[in-house]
Amino acid sequence: MIRPHFSSTLATVIALTFTILLGAQVTQDEHASHHPGQDSPTEVGVPSGGAGGMEGMAEMMQGMGAPPPKELYPTLMELSGLPPEKRAEVKAAAHDRMKSGTVLMAEGLDRLVRAAPTDDYQAMQEAVALLREGMARFDSGLAAHRALSENQDGRTIAMNWFRSQMNLPGSPAPAEQWSLLGLSAAHLALMVILIGFALAMIAMYFLKMRRASTLLRRLTEAPRGPWGGSLRVARIFAETPSIKTFRLLEPVGGPIPFTFLPGQFLTLTVARDGRTVKRSYTIASSPAQRDYIEITVKREEQGFVSRYLCDEVREGTLLQVSAPQGYLTFTGKEAESIVLIGAGVGITPLMSVIRYLTDRAWPKDIYLLFSCRTPDQFAFGAELEHLHRRHANLHVVATVTGADGTEWTGLRGRFTKELISQSVPDIASRRVHLCGPAPMMDVTRAMLLELGVAAASIMSEGFGPPPGQRPHERQIAFEAAVAQADPDAPEVPSVLFTISGKTAQLPADMSVLEAAEHVGVSIDYSCRVGTCGACKVKLRKGAVTMAVEEGLPPADKTRGIILACQAKAFGGESLEVEA
Ligand SMILES: Cc1cc2nc3c(=O)[nH]c(=O)nc-3n(C[C@H](O)[C@H](O)[C@H](O)COP(=O)(O)OP(=O)(O)OC[C@H]3O[C@@H](n4cnc5c(N)ncnc54)[C@H](O)[C@@H]3O)c2cc1C
Ligand code: FES
Repeated sequence: MIRPHFSSTLATVIALTFTILLGAQVTQDEHASHHPGQDSPTEVGVPSGGAGGMEGMAEMMQGMGAPPPKELYPTLMELSGLPPEKRAEVKAAAHDRMKSGTVLMAEGLDRLVRAAPTDDYQAMQEAVALLREGMARFDSGLAAHRALSENQDGRTIAMNWFRSQMNLPGSPAPAEQWSLLGLSAAHLALMVILIGFALAMIAMYFLKMRRASTLLRRLTEAPRGPWGGSLRVARIFAETPSIKTFRLLEPVGGPIPFTFLPGQFLTLTVARDGRTVKRSYTIASSPAQRDYIEITVKREEQGFVSRYLCDEVREGTLLQVSAPQGYLTFTGKEAESIVLIGAGVGITPLMSVIRYLTDRAWPKDIYLLFSCRTPDQFAFGAELEHLHRRHANLHVVATVTGADGTEWTGLRGRFTKELISQSVPDIASRRVHLCGPAPMMDVTRAMLLELGVAAASIMSEGFGPPPGQRPHERQIAFEAAVAQADPDAPEVPSVLFTISGKTAQLPADMSVLEAAEHVGVSIDYSCRVGTCGACKVKLRKGAVTMAVEEGLPPADKTRGIILACQAKAFGGESLEVEA
């Protein structure tokens, strides 16, 4: 039963409760020292003695009529398994604890009020111990009541009480915890962070590998497109009255900004008199020479670019260059020997091969069969003689077709089968490179085939359109054909240039290159006879025929690449071309 003065001092109780509860936060050692013989946490569940720890306190409390403390919290741990009669016992015990706790708290408060004015600290301390013990009993009784009436889990109540006594952080009620598949939000968040981190590491690894493989590919693969830029004419050498060599350097110094193979060419873009044209010239110098390149140009009487080069270009002139291009190359790895057959200025790609192989002291046989019209067109005679003296594996045979009235003492006339077979032993087993005017190449190829050389072992490069054909004649013919064609006639195919978005008519006899030029679409070109490969473009739709495909490697062909200078619409079908 609650004593009457309890209500009058309720405010004081509430104020002191904080102090009491704080005082109840004792360490395990302190608790053990106050409760000898209770060394297990579960036994701490009996809240007798509180935190007072003074000798004789239990006796004092019993003397005050307080019932001895019961093992109530351990009982709560087994509450769920208790039969109804045992639960009734627990309820009665809980009630007793609350009652005795109230008595103790009231007594403690009374003593405290009395001791305070007299500064009797001993008495005050005992009073506080009583309050603490009373509070503990009341608390445990209340907990048992709640467990019984609210059907709470007794184990959780006991554990919470134990945590509060041990000053441990409480755990949120399981019912309030959000969970997914038995995992708490914190677990899930941690897992998400770890998975995110792992994914980021994997992504970084793949990015790193991709960058490494791209770098490796760039280092090992040949560059996709030719380099483009300016080179400065550093020196000009007159080789013959009609042939000049131009030495080109990187304008800002340093090595030439691209690498090339022996036999490849560069393309010059020349803008003059309101026209911009492109012409190709073989890089005649050796790829082993990195500080400069040389081109050797024959002046054509009415040639647009060759006359500009030979007549107007001076040392210091900047030339617009794109390079390298071309497939008529030989580095020494492709065959056990090489036969080079050339005429006129067609010697330039052969010279690059000879210079490179002798630079590297290539030990195998090199045969050069060269023909020119007059002795003064033999551009590199002195150099070849010099190289022949230094390299016994270099065999040079030169013949002049128009030597009459000159001091030429060597071979005269055109190439014959006999001349070729006598100059090159066992020619059928060798690789041959051919370069010169188209008629000379046609005749020589036929002789080589007769001599047993496999067609696949004969590589060639033409320097320009067939003889007798003037530049722009095809262009004029194209324009005439387009003008005559009925634009509405369904049979007239067209070509759509997908990059520029322009469309041109494509009469049956005209090439994609000619159609492009007609509507102002720029496609690179050089030889215009299908040998140099400068005019390669991708065919996106339609089918074409190509009379000559020498400048088109099989791998390019399977990727849908065509030679614009040769490609003509097949079967009246319209085309789509990337240009
Ligand atoms: C892969 C490749 C490599 C080459 N390498 C070299 C090389 O190393 N050295 C070299 O000198 N050349 C080389 N050429 C040839 C070079 O590209 C040019 O074709 C050559 O210099 C002629 O160009 P051009 O502009 O001077 O003549 P263009 O103006 O193109 O004229 C072509 C021909 O038509 C004639 N002609 C022009 N107009 C008329 C007219 N109105 N009436 C009559 N005839 C006319 C010209 O005299 C000339 O012979 C190479 C070509 C290719 C495809
Ligand atoms: S321009 Fe030479 S292959 Fe077409």
